[in-house]
Amino acid sequence: MESAASHPKRQAALPLLERAQGLKIKVSDSFGPILKRVTAIYPGSFDPVTNGHLDLIHRGAKIFDELVVAILRNPEKDPLFSVAERREMLEAMTKELPNVRVDEFQGLLVDYAHTHHAAAVLRGIRAISDYEYELQMAMMNRKLDPNLETIFMMPAEKYSYLSSRLVREVVKLGGSVDGLVPPMVAERLLSKVNGVTRSK
Ligand code: PNS
Repeated sequence: MESAASHPKRQAALPLLERAQGLKIKVSDSFGPILKRVTAIYPGSFDPVTNGHLDLIHRGAKIFDELVVAILRNPEKDPLFSVAERREMLEAMTKELPNVRVDEFQGLLVDYAHTHHAAAVLRGIRAISDYEYELQMAMMNRKLDPNLETIFMMPAEKYSYLSSRLVREVVKLGGSVDGLVPPMVAERLLSKVNGVTRSK
């Protein structure tokens, strides 16, 4: 009888298994369906989360087994929302997605990805203007960890002009962000901005 190790399908799968091991993707050792679980990190500032971010999270959740939305704790920036507030909003917006979780990180992204056994970093590209910055980051991350792949995905076209920075600006100037952020985020933005105005 043919052993599992010499089964033609396993032989055919060997190059894939070797590649997966090189990429630090966990694979089943026994013959049968090749089980690999790919974790990806979706890092960002998310100040605040927009519908463009959520669009990308949904796309990523369909491709990866596990998607970790990682909020950068950046002491050099003066954010509108604290990390805890951003986390709370992201958790509320992703609670229906079983393979998505929200976390925080500081320091190098490659170190965080390594600790979480992630094989990929997910980033969104909206327009060609994003490309240069994203390419720089992807190449720097590849230099720091050649095994970590950056995967770019495009959000829906209707979000191609959307950014957290513009959302903050529009709300501060009294404009509507309906359809650009979830209602919960819009409410929080309004009370944050009104609070700031009142305390001035
Ligand atoms: O939403 P943002 O602000 O465009 O996200 C930028 C982020 C968090 C992805 C980037 O600043 C980052 O990865 N920072 C971690 C520090 C790091 O690893 N720097 C070196 C590689 S670029």
